[in-house]
Formats: sequence, structure tokens, C-alpha cells
Amino acid sequence: MKTQAKASAPAKVILLGEHFVVHGEPAIVLAIDRRATVTVKMRSDQKIFIKSEDIGISGFFINDQFSPLKGGGEAERKLEPIYAVAREIIQKYHLKNGVNIEIESSIPIAAGLGSSAAVSVASAAALLSLFDLNKSKDDIFKIAFNAEKIIHGTPSGVDPAISTYGGILWYRKSQPIRRLDIDVDLPLIIGNTKKERSTGELVAKVNTLRRHYPSIIKKIIKAGGEIVKRSVKALREGDLKTLGELMNINHELLCAVGVSCEELENLVHAARNAGALGAKLTGAGGGGCMIALVSPEKIEDVAEAIDEAGGEVLITRKTDAGVTIER
Ligand code: PMV
Repeated sequence: MKTQAKASAPAKVILLGEHFVVHGEPAIVLAIDRRATVTVKMRSDQKIFIKSEDIGISGFFINDQFSPLKGGGEAERKLEPIYAVAREIIQKYHLKNGVNIEIESSIPIAAGLGSSAAVSVASAAALLSLFDLNKSKDDIFKIAFNAEKIIHGTPSGVDPAISTYGGILWYRKSQPIRRLDIDVDLPLIIGNTKKERSTGELVAKVNTLRRHYPSIIKKIIKAGGEIVKRSVKALREGDLKTLGELMNINHELLCAVGVSCEELENLVHAARNAGALGAKLTGAGGGGCMIALVSPEKIEDVAEAIDEAGGEVLITRKTDAGVTIER
């Protein structure tokens, strides 16, 4: 029996289709080379200790009761999904030991880059490895998806899917996950507004709007799906100009359902004015990050424009490495 195991999982950007994916339309998402790494160690008692040095929180869960050590009341909310992963594995496989779970991450938090899903996926993989449970990526995805449901009631599952499988995915709720083997270099610049927000609240906002104006909002959601379908052709042909235009239209639809904000608009418009082929918010919106598609000769101009407009620029690359057991 092992005493320790380690796993990592990538962050993501949603290229097209966020929010509309919650309502059954497809999304295209890619894994990026920022990762969350989780180390787990066996305990002799039944406590579950979770610590994230990067954000300065830690605490114990014992029989669903939380005792914070660092980070106070905030700690429970932030650590709960990781506890949910551990509890599900321990209960499902009738395990007797508790665990120490330690998180390190280079993914900005609550910024639309899938940080919580990456941590859940890496935690699930590390725990399954620690207990010598030889499970598939599909099992890891399911466990992490269940944990996400605790954070916001109706997640689409796109975040844990991309963190598990890596690469570029076509994701549609309740349908088999499709990997898009597209060999296109996507020069994306990420701009972070550094404004934290809650995915759950933004998803709920769109739900409310849909309830109040069903015939209008359903058409917007459907149009979001059409954009994603059309983009596959552009991606396959390496037609970045069309892809950029589709990203711009997608952004305006996200504005229409109320999930953009002034800070995101500033960065999106700065990027477009500096020559980006397309720019849009990515993830839940309301703050967090935007992405700009740029031709190579414009990378510096667009990065500088985002920086001058108050955004934190992140240069990342697509990664094919989904969840990985680290030695
Ligand atoms: O939590 P974020 O910002 O990475 O966004 C998740 C994407 C949404 O479509 C807004 C929600 C979901 O569950 O798909």
C-alpha cells in the first residue's frame, strides 16, 4: 500500500459556448499549460486535512464537520468541493483511512480558467492512486463533476471534462465527450480583470433571464450553439479570421444575457482596437478573464493594450496533457 501519491490537472479556456453549454448547446474548450498539483498522504485516523498554501487556507473535516486552521469561514466554502471528492471516494470504496490533501496551483482563482475543477480532478486522481484503485479517466471525470455540483447547482461538466482529458474538446452535456484532433496553432492571449466572481451566481442570472423571457433567451442560446458548430469548420481550415469574428459574435451574445461587465468590456475593446482577430470573455464572466485571438505579428501590441487597459496578461499554450499521475 502506498503512503503518498501526487497528480496534476490543467486549467482551461472556453473558446466558444460558455453559459449556453449549461442549456444543452455545445462548447469548444481547450486545456492550457497552467496546472493544479495535489499531493495526498495516508493518515492513521479518519480525519481529512486539506491545505492550500497559495491561498492561505487549511482545515480538517471530521464526519462532515469542518474545523478551520487557517482562513476562517471562507476556508470551508473553498475546501468543500475537495472534501466532496475525498468523501465520495472513501465512501464508495469503503476505505478506512483519512488523508492529508495538499494543493499547489498556478491557476488564477475564480477567474474563469477552471481552477476549482482542475483541483477536483487532480485530487480524485491522486486519491485513487493512493488507494491503488485502478480507475479510468471517465471515473475521475464523474467524481470531479459530482463535486462541481456542490459549488454551483447546474454545471455543464465542461470544466472537469477538459481538466481530465486535456487537448481540445467539443463538449455537450449528456453526450459522449469528443476530442477534436485539430492541429491548429491558436495564438491566444488571456487578460485577467482580477475581479473575482461566482460561477454559480452568473449561471443563476442567465437561468432567471431565461425564465422571464423564454422566447427571446432561448433564441440567443440557440445562436450560441450555431456559432460553435460553425467554428469547427474554421478551426479545421485554420481560418483564424472567421474564428475571430465568431468569437466577437459569441461575446455580444454573452453581453445580451448579462454576464459581461465594465472591466471585461474594457479589455475586450482594447484587444480589438489593437488588432486582435477576435476577443471575448471566457468562462462565467462578471469579471475573471477574457481571451483575444491574435495573428503572430500582433501579439505584442494586443498584450500591451490589455495591460494598459488594466488587465493582467497571461501568455499560455494549449496542452494535450490532461490529468497526470506525477512520480
Ligand atoms: O467557472 P468558469 O468561469 O470556468 O465557467 C464555467 C463555464 C460555464 O459555462 C459558465 C458554467 C458551466 O458549468 O458550464
